Amino acid sequence: MSILLELKNVTKKINNKIIVDNLTFSIKKGEIFGFIGPNGAGKTTTIKMICGLYSITSGDIYINNKNISKNREESLGCIGAIVENPEMYKYLSGKDNLKIIARMYNNINENRINEVVKLVKLENRINDKVKTYSLGMKQRLGVAQALLHKPNLLILDEPTNGLDPMGIKDLRETLRNLANNENLCVVVSSHLLSEMELMCDTFCIINNGKIMDIRTLENIKNKVNSKIKFSFKVDNLDKAKEVIQENIKNIDIVIDNNKLIISCEKHILSIVNKLIINNDINLFEISTLSNTLEDEFLEITESSNKQIR
Ligand SMILES: Nc1ncnc2c1ncn2[C@@H]1O[C@H](COP(=O)(O)OP(=O)(O)O)[C@@H](O)[C@H]1O
Ligand SMILES: [Mg+2]
Repeated sequence: MSILLELKNVTKKINNKIIVDNLTFSIKKGEIFGFIGPNGAGKTTTIKMICGLYSITSGDIYINNKNISKNREESLGCIGAIVENPEMYKYLSGKDNLKIIARMYNNINENRINEVVKLVKLENRINDKVKTYSLGMKQRLGVAQALLHKPNLLILDEPTNGLDPMGIKDLRETLRNLANNENLCVVVSSHLLSEMELMCDTFCIINNGKIMDIRTLENIKNKVNSKIKFSFKVDNLDKAKEVIQENIKNIDIVIDNNKLIISCEKHILSIVNKLIINNDINLFEISTLSNTLEDEFLEITESSNKQIR
């Protein structure tokens, strides 16, 4: 798949303070890319640089292989974004709001307006006043506004903020539909992994302006299901090893530093425990030696939640 957006060593300094630190990543067409990190991590600042709202201190951003600083107008034409709350006239209908935005461009006809309304599934309510909309519907009207000029890249900064689970589900379906059927590349930012997990193909975890990790949902799922290393402190190491090996075929088990080191899937752990206890071996301690990716994610998101409180 071809790359739509690419950041190369992008850094942003404000008042000599590094806010975004040497970010490098790329996003493919049809991909939903989650930008995750605690408040103050630098997500909005990065998004503003991509959207041309902030200058870039150093590094380069490319859209469709073109440097956005050198092809400003063209690049901005490829982007539809909701960075702060989308502007809306709440005493007008959703449709009239779209017409107002459409007038800012010179090539958007009624057909395109109806098309975006369909894309965000607002057909039934589009002639109602925006003040009667739920937050989720307003959010989807915002997405419709951002899509009017047929961008290749849709950027939504913290789109799930304040949405209830139903609203998040609707948004997720809308985005997935757009990525699949419109070949659109979507960037969403959030401080909550739990929401992003259900929405994105790839995650970039950012903290203090730096990339901590980039992962795809596929490799997260594979790794979470894979083996974890546990250490067991028991009073009879040899007997324990023998009993476990007899009962669990091909288990990966060694004695190291007076402990049993076992690599197994999580669900095997309880079987190992039972074997040890049932064979009158005293068990003093079990500890996990390797974190699952899920655990690592939780650590990051939990620390971010703490910062918010
Ligand atoms: N215009 C600005 N002037 C000074 N500091 C800023 C400005 N914009 C952002 N920052 C700082 O940069 C850091 C990252 O902010 P931001 O990109 O909004 O993070 P996020 O969107 O991940 O919550 C924060 O510490 C914020 O205070
Ligand atoms: Mg932000």
